[in-house]
Amino acid sequence: MSSQIDHLLNEDRRFAPSAAFAATAVGDADLYARADSDRERFWADQARELLHWHTPFTSVLDWTNPPFAEWFADGELNVAYNCLDRHVEAGNGDRIALLWEGEPGDERRVTYAELTDEVKRVANVLTGLGVGQGDRVAIYLPMIPEAIAAMLAVARVGAIHSVVFGGFSADSLRARIDDAGAKLVITADGGYRKGKVSALKPAVDAALADRNGSGPQETVEHVLVVRRGGNDVEWTEGRDLWWHDVVPAAAAEHEAQAFPAETPLFILYTSGTTGKPKGILHTSGGYLTQAGFTNKVVHDIHPETDVYWCTADIGWITGHTYVTYGPLANGATQVLYEGTPDTPHPGRWWEIVEKYGVTVLYTAPTAIRSFMKIGRTVPQSFDLSSLRLLGSVGEPINPEAWMWYREIIGSDRTPIVDTWWQTETGAIMISALPGVTETKPGSAQVPIPGIAVDVVDEAGEHVGNGNGGLLVITEPWPSMLRGIWGDPDRFVETYWDKFADRGFYFAGDGARLDEDGDVWLLGRVDDVMNVSGHRLSTAEIESALVAHEATAEAAVVGASDETTGQAVVAFVILKQSFLDAHPAEGLATTLRRWVSEQIGPIARPRDIYIVGELPKTRSGKIMRRLLRDVAEGREVGDTTTLADTMVMSTIQAKITT
Ligand code: PRX
Repeated sequence: MSSQIDHLLNEDRRFAPSAAFAATAVGDADLYARADSDRERFWADQARELLHWHTPFTSVLDWTNPPFAEWFADGELNVAYNCLDRHVEAGNGDRIALLWEGEPGDERRVTYAELTDEVKRVANVLTGLGVGQGDRVAIYLPMIPEAIAAMLAVARVGAIHSVVFGGFSADSLRARIDDAGAKLVITADGGYRKGKVSALKPAVDAALADRNGSGPQETVEHVLVVRRGGNDVEWTEGRDLWWHDVVPAAAAEHEAQAFPAETPLFILYTSGTTGKPKGILHTSGGYLTQAGFTNKVVHDIHPETDVYWCTADIGWITGHTYVTYGPLANGATQVLYEGTPDTPHPGRWWEIVEKYGVTVLYTAPTAIRSFMKIGRTVPQSFDLSSLRLLGSVGEPINPEAWMWYREIIGSDRTPIVDTWWQTETGAIMISALPGVTETKPGSAQVPIPGIAVDVVDEAGEHVGNGNGGLLVITEPWPSMLRGIWGDPDRFVETYWDKFADRGFYFAGDGARLDEDGDVWLLGRVDDVMNVSGHRLSTAEIESALVAHEATAEAAVVGASDETTGQAVVAFVILKQSFLDAHPAEGLATTLRRWVSEQIGPIARPRDIYIVGELPKTRSGKIMRRLLRDVAEGREVGDTTTLADTMVMSTIQAKITT
């Protein structure tokens, strides 16, 4: 990491917003002044300005029982009404909400009126299936308009969605269904990925297959299936329903009921430092306020004119906040793309930007780096002149990628906002405001108005400009997680115990303050990896590896990777009993495939090294730092605390041969 810091220290390029951009920007410098003078009042103003409240709130923040916050608690609203009906009622029903592009090139334009109609019908279907306030619904869908409609319909009836990324395996889906006790699963036969149909329904069937009495009791009563891939599917009569049978047949009238602001909106599972993913819980009023506010001022959304495109899948928090909730709350028009960036050709994204005249693009550094690898001639063969603002999210963006993004995609003209946040924070926390901030390539820079962060040492002391430390959030914020589903102790332990005496939220990230006090993110300081902007836990992959009959022990590290940021590298000790009975050839391949089946393809290790021993301290803790040195091809660091100092040379010898 030190070479990375040195490199960042040398970064002195600066880009001030142009006068023309600043003149029309939604966010201005005054926002900081207003937020600084009275933070709670500032958020209350945003909540009132941006949302419709069926019952206005009188209480803003209740922080009497930290770290359990309540925002706008006596107010009532309906999240779906805020994202749909009110735009139609305001005369904007004909505005396009979704410019949907399927991977094979089919397209659908869905107006606010049409989406409202669809969501009302789905809400009626949900009610008919007995899904109501507080019930959990798992959503396992490709990037199709029905995915957004499903989320909003669940929200409309006061139920709680748990969206599971379509790339997760049946086992991962099962674990999430069980943890949340989902009553309904909404899925599709399949969706298009990389030029062919990738089936989804079989994973749901496998997840719900009879467990012969093992595991918790089945909670799922129905499976609602969208036809998208056209692939053949198995059917369980009485349990499975086709979307196209029940949704069009349902009534289009549905009055949105108001729910208290702290009504749970969704659970989203994310990897932590242990083997079990955490169900991050978000609620309604505060979440929607900060989602709408940040989308408006950071992405500078002008709903009448912008064509916004956030490339994230709805299976991740970015898709929740900046595909579904933020843009729709603001009445924006957005592109929704089903497929992969390079199918059927490497210019697919740029073709979409040209075709729809995308003005604001929000994506991840890993995508930018893979486009850099392909070369500038691909994007340069499309007309990208409609773009006026670019955003980055999910991992630190290196200054080279930032510059390439600006020069090649943004024609050396567009501002870039590098936005730091997490599943837990619900919405953007640190970012430039594009019409205000002079940007620095590689730095997320400043907390947004109304947010307070700091970089501190282990004792919680501010490190001061020019120094590195741990990133903390020092004041509660509207879209903060309200807990971990079913595990309040883990919530307190994971995020609040480290700086309990100060009441800081510990983000798990290392950061540095430069001479101006701007924040530079340096990556995770715990055993969480960030691969292509996706969070993975070393412990989760290790437990998948040891679940294979061949494995005695496994250690996983995140090694830096030019394209994906980090890559999963595993060191595995095999069982002698297994080796006595089976050939060792091909085992690394088998284990890679195994992890992919257990968790999902995103978790598949880039490299698996079969080793005889692992480096451990005398107390038996695996020293991942040393394994990371090996995986990154560096000289191995200090080994004096190892129980057996020879282990590292044995491992290295094994790897280089
Ligand atoms: O390490 C930080 C990194 O992604 C983590 C959060 O991951 P997740 O909950 O999956 O949410 C990703 C999308 C918001 C953080 O702890 N991260 C996210 N954005 C940035 C970042 N690291 C550096 N710069 C960013 N802009």
